[in-house]
Amino acid sequence: MTKIITIDGPSGSGKGTVSRLIASKLSFNYLDSGALYRALSVSSARHGVNLRNIKGLVDLVEHMDVRFEMDDGNFQMFLDEINVSDEMRTEDAGVRASKIAFYPEIRESLLKRQRKFAFGVGLVADGRDMGTVVFPEADLKIYLTASIEERAQRRYKELIDKGEDVSLRALAKQVRDRDARDMNREVSPLVAADDAVTIDTSEMTVARVLNSIFELVHAKRLI
Ligand code: C5P
Repeated sequence: MTKIITIDGPSGSGKGTVSRLIASKLSFNYLDSGALYRALSVSSARHGVNLRNIKGLVDLVEHMDVRFEMDDGNFQMFLDEINVSDEMRTEDAGVRASKIAFYPEIRESLLKRQRKFAFGVGLVADGRDMGTVVFPEADLKIYLTASIEERAQRRYKELIDKGEDVSLRALAKQVRDRDARDMNREVSPLVAADDAVTIDTSEMTVARVLNSIFELVHAKRLI
């Protein structure tokens, strides 16, 4: 049986970084479910499908040729064999993704693709509803969170390092708006599963977060 670890939480909580490191350390597969929503958002922009055209979007999911690769620790995404990693990481793609993620039909159409990542020894799945909806039977469920200020600050640093001109205030507002959309939607809202362990990473280094999770991994005898 494939062992499953789910790591859910709001954007900027550190779940992407932490999930990748854990998957690599345990030699488990890795599912970045947000990347699937982002892939759909990029694909809809490329094919000129309006974000309110649910049927058109569901059709895109059925035919979407998306592939992920880990290149020297860097997560790469290919759409129709074109590397769209930079495009999908933009704030705009994230906002579009969270608008699409609102529709139950779209969430449903992405379910099968997400579950296909569960094969082999193990899977680390990161997202918003991994422990609640996609893998409710997971062996270990983590909910990572951090204050809005800290999450906006992390995103600010990331973008400034990339040479982008951004305002911390505007980013804090975007983080707040995205939280509101993700937490208040009717289907699969962002919420910790009843059996999840919550870790607030606001004042923790990545190494400390990893240590805490590895303690749980050992306690559950997942390795
Ligand atoms: O995690 P990431 O920021 O890449 O996700 C982009 C958006 O996709 C999120 O803001 C959220 O609205 C949506 N999403 C979701 N369910 C998931 C993963 C992502 O609704 N499991």
